Amino acid sequence: MAAAALTFAHQILLSKPSFFLHSAKTRNSLTTFVSVSAPFRRRHKSTQTVASSLLELGGVQISKQDVVKDEPTNNVPDLIFTKIGLQLHRRDNHPLGILKNAIYEYFDTNYNNQFQKFDDLCPIVSTKENFDEVLVPADHVSRSYNDTYYIDAETVLRCHTSAHQATLLRKGYTNFLVTGDVYRRDSIDSTHYPVFHQMEGVRVFSPSDWNDSGNDGTLYAANDLKACLEGLARHLFGAVEMRWVDSYFPFTNPSFELEIYFQEKWLEVLGCGVMEQEILKRGGKTDNVAWAFGLGLERLAMVLFDIPDIRLFWSTDKRFTSQFTKGQLGIKFKPFSKYPPCYKDMSFWINDSFTENNLCEIVRGVAGDLAEEVQLIDNFTNKKGMTSHCYRITYRSMERSLTDEEINELQWNVRDQVQSQMNVELR
Ligand code: DAH
Repeated sequence: MAAAALTFAHQILLSKPSFFLHSAKTRNSLTTFVSVSAPFRRRHKSTQTVASSLLELGGVQISKQDVVKDEPTNNVPDLIFTKIGLQLHRRDNHPLGILKNAIYEYFDTNYNNQFQKFDDLCPIVSTKENFDEVLVPADHVSRSYNDTYYIDAETVLRCHTSAHQATLLRKGYTNFLVTGDVYRRDSIDSTHYPVFHQMEGVRVFSPSDWNDSGNDGTLYAANDLKACLEGLARHLFGAVEMRWVDSYFPFTNPSFELEIYFQEKWLEVLGCGVMEQEILKRGGKTDNVAWAFGLGLERLAMVLFDIPDIRLFWSTDKRFTSQFTKGQLGIKFKPFSKYPPCYKDMSFWINDSFTENNLCEIVRGVAGDLAEEVQLIDNFTNKKGMTSHCYRITYRSMERSLTDEEINELQWNVRDQVQSQMNVELR
């Protein structure tokens, strides 16, 4: 996507939709990634034990060795470990914390403090919690090593807050909100970052709730859900135009997306639906009906606060952090300066196991937040059937000017690692 030529609103609108949106797709990545990823582990991972890398999350102690392991079933890079525990959504002066609190306020006021709030649940979950218990099919793309960070074959960094639905239902909660950091291997551009934040909402009804309504439980829940989320959108955005779009998620039926009309475009703000009966049944709730929703906090915060690049949420630069104040939703971010971007192109013959996510992981591993975008700009197959890709990497700091030397060094490092780890032939 030619992001540089697009406005900020376009970039958000054209960004990829949630991967749970689509019905099950098969992908070869589970088998291929393991072989491709083997060199990743050896090159990137340091096995030092440092006391400061011990974290405590929701009462669980986590050390780096628990997350980053030199084993074929692990694809978590060092960089991702450094993000665990930062919990941006728990900072009251941070745009994500301000947004979370504004949503809490809506629920507290309109539902008489009935919703239990969780924002400190450990992001390390089982594949059972992340996928099986929310009915994600065995061959769904989200389960691949190309898309999800695996700690081992049965443990992942949650890729959505829906991972907590079943456990909380089993524990007896019937109205709850779960906010947390979620992790996905992904492309690099202004709206994608491998760690971002979601909020999940669940509300369970009993027959006595819908019996007098004249509707069945499903319709009753769907109507209640829509009213709730329309109210939430108005609470956050004011008097906006909205529309409901039918959708697909493995965990809900029927499923919907809410879109709001913003800067002359329809913007998808959340996914939701009536919870699949099977999830409730397994949670011991056979006579109940429930609704659920999941929303991406960055996506909303970028619009509400005019934040043009998702990397800024991680900035510790005072010129960013000092612009936001507890309780003040929608203060418009004033860019403190725009440093020049630097573009570097690289071309190579790909092989069968090449994926863009693997390339992006290398770029992030080398350049961290200096990588602004990785974009496929040319793609052709020659007579021998070999396919060439040309990628343009945009380097830019949010905080300072970069020197030519430093960018060249990053690029050489990227080239070197792409060649040795992805087994592609540079051109
Ligand atoms: N888990 C979905 C995602 O990450 C979002 C979502 C959609 C959550 C629908 C829900 C739901 O609870 O009902 O893309």
